Amino acid sequence: MPTTNLIKKSLESISIETLNGTNFNKNDFARKIINYPAMMVPSVQESIIKHLVSSLPNNASLIDPFMGASSTLVTAMKYGINVSGQDINPLSILISQVKTNIYTDNIIEQFNSLLTSISRSWSIKPDAQFKNINKWFKEDVQVELSQISRAIKRSDDLYFRKFCWVTLAEVIRLTSNDRTSTFKMHVRPIEEINRRELSPMQYFEKIGKRSINDLLNLKSVLQEKGLIENDSYVRNIEVKWGDSKKGLVSERIHNLLVTSPPYGDNQTTVTYGQFSYLPLQWIPVSDIDDTIDFDYLSVIQTIDKNSLGGKKANNYSEIEESLFAKSKTLKSFFDKLNKEEKYKAMKVVVFLNDLDITIDNSLNKLSDEAYLVWTVGNRNVNNREVENDKILRELMNSKRVSHITDLKRDILAKRMPEKNNFSKTMSKEKILIFKK
Ligand SMILES: C[S@@+](CC[C@H](N)C(=O)[O-])C[C@H]1O[C@@H](n2cnc3c(N)ncnc32)[C@H](O)[C@@H]1O
Repeated sequence: MPTTNLIKKSLESISIETLNGTNFNKNDFARKIINYPAMMVPSVQESIIKHLVSSLPNNASLIDPFMGASSTLVTAMKYGINVSGQDINPLSILISQVKTNIYTDNIIEQFNSLLTSISRSWSIKPDAQFKNINKWFKEDVQVELSQISRAIKRSDDLYFRKFCWVTLAEVIRLTSNDRTSTFKMHVRPIEEINRRELSPMQYFEKIGKRSINDLLNLKSVLQEKGLIENDSYVRNIEVKWGDSKKGLVSERIHNLLVTSPPYGDNQTTVTYGQFSYLPLQWIPVSDIDDTIDFDYLSVIQTIDKNSLGGKKANNYSEIEESLFAKSKTLKSFFDKLNKEEKYKAMKVVVFLNDLDITIDNSLNKLSDEAYLVWTVGNRNVNNREVENDKILRELMNSKRVSHITDLKRDILAKRMPEKNNFSKTMSKEKILIFKK
């Protein structure tokens, strides 16, 4: 096995162009099947995963406790290792199930017959009903979406339905009255809504065909590397729904963790839950995962409130004391704030405490000497920078996890909200690498 020093050197030799992902192909890794918020650039992670996998024993296993659109899992599959991911957002589960599934060419025929069946639909009955549906969808859009969703439900192939639901989710994103420029739900101005002429069916056909192409291309990359046997990936794949703060549901022990956690609580940073709220209205939970045990559609904010940092802590002072003891950077950030600012910044402490618990849960699922790769960005609170990178290093240090190196990258391709609560340095991201 190479020494930690050799690994550090090899990681530090990765070029800035590779880290910035300037030369990456946007269609790679089926990245375009849906525009999930704050997706990683797979080629960036690829360079790191490649270096680390080569220094791990055979049968390496990777876990991502904040899986999102599963860019990490799919990247790792190219290196023939076991992969496992978890997320609290049901839409992330669905996307990840589709991206990690190996579809056969049969999907082309299935999709064409589905299109024929949709084109023969005549019923104008709505297939989804929820509060304010007329605010978020024009009536003719509702009719077409319902015709598509009824046709999907008629298929008896669960993994084909999952593919179609992800396609429909992207169609919903593009045809609802919600603005696509932010992840928070904001309705477009009425004149603009009236002006827009949209056909969900046309979008569905176009996006579906492109996604099939991307998924089959991904499969051929794996095939060329000898990683597909009997139309299945040769190693284990786990895609689990669950709150990583409560624990990781994975049944295995892993020797590599690669993740990008949220930047802060979902409600004030990236609202993954709000982004998913409208698509999830149309998709039956029974087609996603039957372990999902919360009423994620009760209000727009439910998923974000249940995510990291989303809930108030009853034992706030205890949390503060314990976190400040672990991170002097967090303490000094707080010491500089006045009373009113401190009140606003309490969410940072609650978020970081949740993150700290998730780190402990993750360490429980890692073998000794496992590598951990965390991509983090700094955010602003009260116009002051929260140095998530330094804080994470201090939290890891308090758990005796050794820091190997940090790599820096410019954010070029990641979609970020246009709101101003990100730090200027947010144009840079840090990739922190540790060893248990
Ligand atoms: C930055 S994204 C991950 C992006 C991912 N690496 C990708 O490339 O698509 C963070 C993810 O953390 C998830 N998340 C937030 N709180 C969580 C929790 N308590 N348990 C599990 N996942 C959570 C969000 O739903 C979101 O999908």
